[in-house]
Amino acid sequence: MLTRKNTEIIFGGDYFPEQWPQDTWKEDIRLMKQANVNMVSIGIFSWALIQPDENTFTFDWLDKIMDMLAANNIDVCLGTATAAQPNWLTRKYDDILFVRESGEQVPYGSRQTYCVNSPSYRKAIRLLAEKMATHYKGHKALALWHINNEYANKNSMCFCKNCEKAFRGWLQKKYGTIDNLNESWGTVFWSEKYSAWEEINTPRASAGGRNATKLLDYKRFLSESFFTLYLEEYNVIRPITPDVPITSNFEGDWSKFDHYLFRNHLDVVSFNIYPDPGNPDARKWAALRHTMMRSLLGKPFMVMEQAPSQVDWYPVNIPKPPGLMRLWSYQALAHGSDSVMYFQWRASKKGAEKYHSGMVPHFGENSRVFKEISDLGNELKKAKDIVGSTVDSKVAILLDNDSWWAVDNPYGHGTKSLDNEVFWSANGQPFPTVLVSYFGELEYYFNAFYDLNIPVDVIPVDYDFSKYKVIVAPILHMVKPGFKETIENFVKKGGTFITTYFTGVIDESVGVFLDGYIGPLKDVLGVKVEEYNPLPPGGKNAMKMTGTIKGFKKKYGCSIWCDVAHTTSAKTLATFVEGYYTGSPSFTENQFGNGKAYYVATRPDKDFMRDFLSKIADAQGIKISQLPEGVELVTRSGYGRNYGFYLNHSGTKKLVTLPKGKYEDLLTGIAHQGTLNLVKYGVSILRKTK
Ligand code: GLA
Ligand code: ZN
Repeated sequence: MLTRKNTEIIFGGDYFPEQWPQDTWKEDIRLMKQANVNMVSIGIFSWALIQPDENTFTFDWLDKIMDMLAANNIDVCLGTATAAQPNWLTRKYDDILFVRESGEQVPYGSRQTYCVNSPSYRKAIRLLAEKMATHYKGHKALALWHINNEYANKNSMCFCKNCEKAFRGWLQKKYGTIDNLNESWGTVFWSEKYSAWEEINTPRASAGGRNATKLLDYKRFLSESFFTLYLEEYNVIRPITPDVPITSNFEGDWSKFDHYLFRNHLDVVSFNIYPDPGNPDARKWAALRHTMMRSLLGKPFMVMEQAPSQVDWYPVNIPKPPGLMRLWSYQALAHGSDSVMYFQWRASKKGAEKYHSGMVPHFGENSRVFKEISDLGNELKKAKDIVGSTVDSKVAILLDNDSWWAVDNPYGHGTKSLDNEVFWSANGQPFPTVLVSYFGELEYYFNAFYDLNIPVDVIPVDYDFSKYKVIVAPILHMVKPGFKETIENFVKKGGTFITTYFTGVIDESVGVFLDGYIGPLKDVLGVKVEEYNPLPPGGKNAMKMTGTIKGFKKKYGCSIWCDVAHTTSAKTLATFVEGYYTGSPSFTENQFGNGKAYYVATRPDKDFMRDFLSKIADAQGIKISQLPEGVELVTRSGYGRNYGFYLNHSGTKKLVTLPKGKYEDLLTGIAHQGTLNLVKYGVSILRKTK
């Protein structure tokens, strides 16, 4: 039933029957049927019950619930139970617990305490995965494997002896000789030269700034370690149950590891999404995350978890008011999810998460939340035609983990060093400004397209660009070999390329491009950057257009950063109006072959973004939908049909003007033409009938 035409939308959630007496299980099944639940995720945290000691595996309770679910036609997304290891294992092997950057080994007493490179942990999960797969092979309920859970959420960085050893091996493979490593890391600086592999330690906070290439290599190494950790289980399970699809439930924070590493080893992408109902921009926040997950495989994905109402880990946890859970569920579907799932089925009575909402709240079935859940579960039957369709984008935003890690904060020190001494830098390292943010810039561009209802994909730099008309690379700080040629080809053929300040500053080994930042992108952009000027907090400059350009105002504000650039072949469309670089280009356009490349030397205000991106969309024949404030439109297409999701995120009713034609609402069966009324939090899925 996974994300294929003519199947149901997947509806359900994490289910922990082990937390409840077996009498409750019967109640659970009854309520699941009532809510039209068709899949539950089980087993995720039950390792200690399945393997009570090193030599014993017991499946009795799990068999029983698997059979009950099968008998009721409820599919199972089966967790491999490896996300929280049992205490006996932790105590027996001293390499299991991860080590913080401070050098402290994390105490046990929670989940995700394992080190990603622990040989004992890896050995134990291979065995457990094998036992699980062999035992449940062919079980009627088994529909999907759920490997581990939220990789790297709490244990993304480890500095233990095993990681150190594995890092040395990784470096040896990458560099071959210690001389190559010294060269790549630039260790002549501050007398850091290494003479043997054994001298290399993990890059824990030191007395001052650390080697930037080493920091990045360590992050790359840990990122790959999470992927090889996944493969430990994947390689065991795949041959035992070749027909059962495999996923891993991602947390959704891509800064912790490079999700693109997983691309060829996932049958379906699944992840968890917890927008804060107190955030006025929650819908944009969510849209970006859905987009990233959809783009990972370019096909429908699964929302594995969302909150039925509030979570328990924001500083203040606001419940979803009536209607909001439904609206955000349809938003997930609009962006390409084929599932609506929750954490968790029944709100816990004990443990760390008892204040987190559940589909069945502590209050029980006669609650607002359960009613909204079961109404939605039943309503979703009407939308089943959307399954398998996806969002077709002509615009792609590039996401490059290396640039992200080089600019933002993988070592987690914020503006402070470990001993709390204030360190004026973005990542515990000397840096031009803490105000610049790689992901913040990406989000800024994404939101600008969102405001015009233009669908985008978010893709890596080494992807196939041929289906896109516009490629946007916000702060592409690192430019890797091959990218120059790819993007030049793309533009030559008529594509539009947009990039920003602080782009093309470093190469793969974190060495600065000399003879002008922008580096290898000089030709396609027709500019060179000589210096940069980070602006003080709250500081502004302005971009003055060099002439009257249709669709643009005369002047726009800008902030955060100004590159001081020179054009070579590009046309200057706007200049800065303040500072010693007054008159230097703030916005340029370069004709390159049949296409155009734009360079934005600063962070422009929103009105510029709207005007600029509208112009780009117009020129490339990309449709902009003007809708009332707070209304989102996303279109899914597939199997020859289009489904327009109209989502009213605002607190008031809205009147939408529809494009020409006759439409039918999948949820109500009502025909629409000309206009569409949306109540507060209202949703319509329109399919064209004529
Ligand atoms: C994550 C985890 C779940 C649960 C929820 C609570 O998504 O995967 O096990 O802890 O958070 O929001
Ligand atoms: Zn470790």
